[in-house]
Amino acid sequence: MMILEAKDIKKSYGNRFNRTEVLKGIDMNIEKGEFVSIMGASGSGKTTLLNVLSSIDRVSSGHIQIEGADITQMKDKQLAHFRKNDLGFIFQEYNLLDTLTVKENILLPLSIRNMKKDEVDRQFERVAGELGIHELSGKYPNEISGGQQQRTSAARAFIHQPKIIFADEPTGALDSKSASNLLKKLQQMNVTSLSTIMMVTHDATAASYSGRVIFLKDGLVYSTLRRGGRPQEEFYKEIMNTQSVLGGVGVES
Ligand SMILES: Nc1ncnc2c1ncn2[C@@H]1O[C@H](COP(=O)(O)OP(=O)(O)O)[C@@H](O)[C@H]1O
Ligand SMILES: [Mg+2]
Repeated sequence: MMILEAKDIKKSYGNRFNRTEVLKGIDMNIEKGEFVSIMGASGSGKTTLLNVLSSIDRVSSGHIQIEGADITQMKDKQLAHFRKNDLGFIFQEYNLLDTLTVKENILLPLSIRNMKKDEVDRQFERVAGELGIHELSGKYPNEISGGQQQRTSAARAFIHQPKIIFADEPTGALDSKSASNLLKKLQQMNVTSLSTIMMVTHDATAASYSGRVIFLKDGLVYSTLRRGGRPQEEFYKEIMNTQSVLGGVGVES
């Protein structure tokens, strides 16, 4: 089943005298339960694409359907509601609230719901178990490492069982050990909870944890790689090759 269908997405910035077209007509179909990476050189439009797909930003033209609902046609209020209820987000900067504990941060997305305490506890146990949060739950963000903070923000993204998780460079601020730890957890969540994940990254290692990599170039889809049943190492090499053909390897602003 298709969870996200984007048709001829265009996005420009600027005014009518000076416009820059960042996305020039992107089509994209994401299956329910996929883990997809979006790659491309710095400035190729990855963040812009993720932002319009996740309703943080509006398209200039084109249509985006998430489980059949066209988010480009929704009013701001409806969109805000949809975003809170049906989507989960992980950013490079963990975006945790310093005055709340780890557990309180994770439970935030449930606060808008009328959920029984039993059910809240059950959901917390589920994500805390999968992401290794238990020993952190009473601590504050400034008392834990960057890797632990990002696992907390991942738990927050998954707590309300969103339709899609959008992650923009989630490992961008992490050392390689914390990065691979987080990516393994995301991969595991993708399998165990059948979550759909779309992740922007400029890192071939990170992308090799996903099942499909979509490369952007100059605002268009340049190519797509699928892992299939291959070993991760082999997929990584193919991603590296495509990245070197594309240019702009490894440099991210
Ligand atoms: N709000 C904005 N206003 C004007 N230009 C923007 C804005 N956001 C992004 N851009 C431009 O769009 C292009 C793509 O940016 P971005 O999507 O952030 O690329 P990436 O994430 O691939 O590095 C860049 O040239 C950037 O300067
Ligand atoms: Mg970006």
